Amino acid sequence: MKKEKYTATTLAGLEEVLARELIEIGADEVQIGRRCVYFSGDLKLLYKANYCLRTALRILLPIDAYKIYSADDLYQRGKNFKWEELFDMNQTFAIQSTVFTDLFNNSMYASLKLKDAIVDRFRYKFGERPSVDSKNPDIRINLHISNEYCTISLDSSGESLHKRGYRLDQNEAPMSEVLAAGLIRLSDWDRKSDFIDPMCGSGTIAIEAAMLANGLYPGTVRKDFSFRNWKNFNPELFEKMEQEVKPRDINPVKVSASDISRYNIDIAYKNAEAAGVLPLIDFKISDFKVLEPASEKPFLLFNPPYGERMTPEDTNFYAMIGERLKHHYSDAVVWMISTPQCLKSIGLRPSRKISILNGSLECSFRKYELYKGSKKYTGEGELNPPVA
Ligand SMILES: C[S@@+](CC[C@H](N)C(=O)[O-])C[C@H]1O[C@@H](n2cnc3c(N)ncnc32)[C@H](O)[C@@H]1O
Repeated sequence: MKKEKYTATTLAGLEEVLARELIEIGADEVQIGRRCVYFSGDLKLLYKANYCLRTALRILLPIDAYKIYSADDLYQRGKNFKWEELFDMNQTFAIQSTVFTDLFNNSMYASLKLKDAIVDRFRYKFGERPSVDSKNPDIRINLHISNEYCTISLDSSGESLHKRGYRLDQNEAPMSEVLAAGLIRLSDWDRKSDFIDPMCGSGTIAIEAAMLANGLYPGTVRKDFSFRNWKNFNPELFEKMEQEVKPRDINPVKVSASDISRYNIDIAYKNAEAAGVLPLIDFKISDFKVLEPASEKPFLLFNPPYGERMTPEDTNFYAMIGERLKHHYSDAVVWMISTPQCLKSIGLRPSRKISILNGSLECSFRKYELYKGSKKYTGEGELNPPVA
């Protein structure tokens, strides 16, 4: 089958994790870019990438790349492109643009120029034009302009892949599904030891952990991908890929999720049900202040609440988390994402720090290793020893 070059986009900081995922699904020529990873593969791999990748936002197929020196260059080249080979008049389309150039004042104007070119091409060829549908188009075109470099791609995903299809409801600060999956992969959780999210909110981290550990791909929930509207869509090939990635019979790995709010636990429960992982998650309503670990060597990964500005309540809250961990979670590995200011009040020394954005907020993802007895941290002397 013919190989193509693709671009998988992701969040800043998740490029290496995404590259690892791509290698695992059999992609070739995997190369890390800025907020993206380039790779190559055949049509089945394109389907597999959309279906299986947990840390990709979109999978793009570049169809034209060139230099432009004016807005009119974009129009002319766009008008000469054989769009009719990619989609039909009765299909709707939309253009999403990202521009870092002086040639266009804003991305809307760039989108408009390319839209005019496509519409004029169809009119010139057939006397009629396809319609634009900005909400739910059949065909999505991605335009990227950086200085004079312009790349036009077909977006094979459609809606961003973080929209897995299981989030029926959300709490006030849900985490992106792609970020949750990325943090779990960054943490190097062994996918066996007791995973706990003690402040689970709408359940994203626990759901992603349960899906990962049990070999359930995002595509088992999400059915809608833009490549289904492409002229070359091959349903048999898609089905074949789906059969190949079906989880084998494995011992189910269970995860634990709790939250102080009954309302949030209800939401998380419904989301887990929609994701098909309800039997794999033990939910509990509990204040972390009194939560006991369910096993000897738990693995915690969570994002406590935080605001843009640190308040005295935040200081006390984070100190409470640190105290609880020290006194009741000896022998635990704990990963937390929050602002660096909040994490300072934890009172534990991290063994790893990773800077990462959560939305637009600069955060730190930190690892704390708590030790039982006299075990020493091999790096810098004793780290987070137990409290007598
Ligand atoms: C930032 S949200 C977590 C969002 C979650 N990761 C998601 O994707 O929906 C923080 C959560 O901590 C919970 N929380 C706050 N104080 C808590 C406490 N003392 N014990 C347990 N949960 C608490 C809140 O109810 C909220 O759901």
